[in-house]
Order: sequence, then C-alpha cells, then structure tokens
Amino acid sequence: MNPSNTWNQVDQYIKKQLIPYDPILEEALANNHNAELPPYDVTPSQGKLLQLFIQMQGAKRVLEIGTLGGYSTIWMARALPSDGRIVTIEVDPHHAEVARTNLSLAQIDHKVELRVGDALDQLTRMDEEQAAPFDLIFIDADKPNNPHYLKWALRFSRPGTVIIGDNVVRDGEVANENNEDPRVIGVREFFDRLAEEPRITATAIQTVGSKGYDGFVIGIVR
Ligand SMILES: C[S@@+](CC[C@H](N)C(=O)[O-])C[C@H]1O[C@@H](n2cnc3c(N)ncnc32)[C@H](O)[C@@H]1O
Repeated sequence: MNPSNTWNQVDQYIKKQLIPYDPILEEALANNHNAELPPYDVTPSQGKLLQLFIQMQGAKRVLEIGTLGGYSTIWMARALPSDGRIVTIEVDPHHAEVARTNLSLAQIDHKVELRVGDALDQLTRMDEEQAAPFDLIFIDADKPNNPHYLKWALRFSRPGTVIIGDNVVRDGEVANENNEDPRVIGVREFFDRLAEEPRITATAIQTVGSKGYDGFVIGIVR
C-alpha cells in the first residue's frame, strides 16, 4: 500500500475517534477553499495538538506568525482562558480578510489581534510598542525567515515560553545539505540557531498524515 494512503486513513481514523465534528472549523476550511487560499492549514490532529500544548502550558498570551485563514488560530484561541489573547501576523491582505471572517464565525475575534503586514516589520513594531512576553509562540510563515523569527521569538519570551516551528522536515529534505530550496535552507539555519542558542532547549518530531511527511520543532526557553 502507498504509505501516504495509510497516513491519510490513520489521520481520518484519529479525527473520527478523538476530534468531534465541528461545523465552524469545517466552514472555516470551506471558506479558505472558496477564497482560493493555499491548503497550508494545520491538520485537525495538529490543531488539537496545538490546543493541548496551550492547555498544558496554561498559556494566556500566544503569538502566531503566519495566520493564513485563521484555522490554527481558532484551534488555539479556543484553548485560551477568557482573558487570553493571541496576536497573529499575516502578510497577505486577502488571507487576512478571510481570517477575519473565520475568526468572527468562530466568535473568538475578541481574543485575537490580527496584524496585517510583513512579520519582520510587525515584530519590530511590537518591540517599539513594548509588547509583553508570550507564553507560547507558533512560527508558521515563510520558512526562509525562520532564523529571524527565532530571534524575535526569543525577544518576546520569558523563561518557560514554549516555541513551536512548523514544517521543519520538508519530506526529509532538511537532512539534505545540498538542497538549494530557500525554505530548506531556512529550516536548516533554524536548526543551526537552535543548536547554538543557550537560551532554549528543543527537539523536533517527524510527522506523517493527511498533509504528507513533515515535522515540527518544539522548545522551551530556559
Ligand atoms: C503555512 S501558512 C499558515 C497556516 C496557519 N498557521 C494554519 O495552520 O491555519 C503560512 C502563512 O504565512 C504567511 N506569510 C508568508 N510570509 C509572511 C511574512 N513575511 N510575514 C507574515 N506572514 C507571512 C502566508 O501568506 C501564509 O498565509
């Protein structure tokens, strides 16, 4: 059997068993599709994992870099306490517009600050605004900038902040030092920075599922 068929079937099985049907999340995905957004949202099981991380961490302040249509934002916002807040950054105004519709549909827009613009510009502005540290930071935007996002994530951290970086395995190409794809080079530099950074202890987990073979980094700030 084609392994990706098995991964897909198991993802469907996990979803059926552990992730009850949710019309709002399904409608958000349909809105993304109808608005021709790329299908780069996390899977339901990954969305639930983000939710569990937020609950395990007792997070109240979350930073997300890369909103797309807000699918992962909805998962995370729902795990926050009533006074919790997510700042999410999206460069593409069309993606941000669809995200606003979805966040409103999910009735969590009061918990979300959606900042539209290039993430490096927005992070610089947040620094000028003296943004408070975050409890959990989810890096899920343009991979070539991952090393810069790590620097900013540390800037907006406190001891105990959890930092997650998605799509760091890239069909296994992360281990190919000859790959010239800027996204692969970006995640390899991300690993280099993590390896030499004394302020964070991290690991990476390979994943398979309905979106193929990839993985994520998870670390905690010392
Ligand atoms: C992988 S998608 C995010 C998926 C989303 N977190 C989810 O799971 O539902 C990456 C998003 O990052 C945005 N992006 C790419 N480069 C960016 C940048 N420089 N600044 C901010 N957002 C960026 C893209 O437009 C895209 O919407």
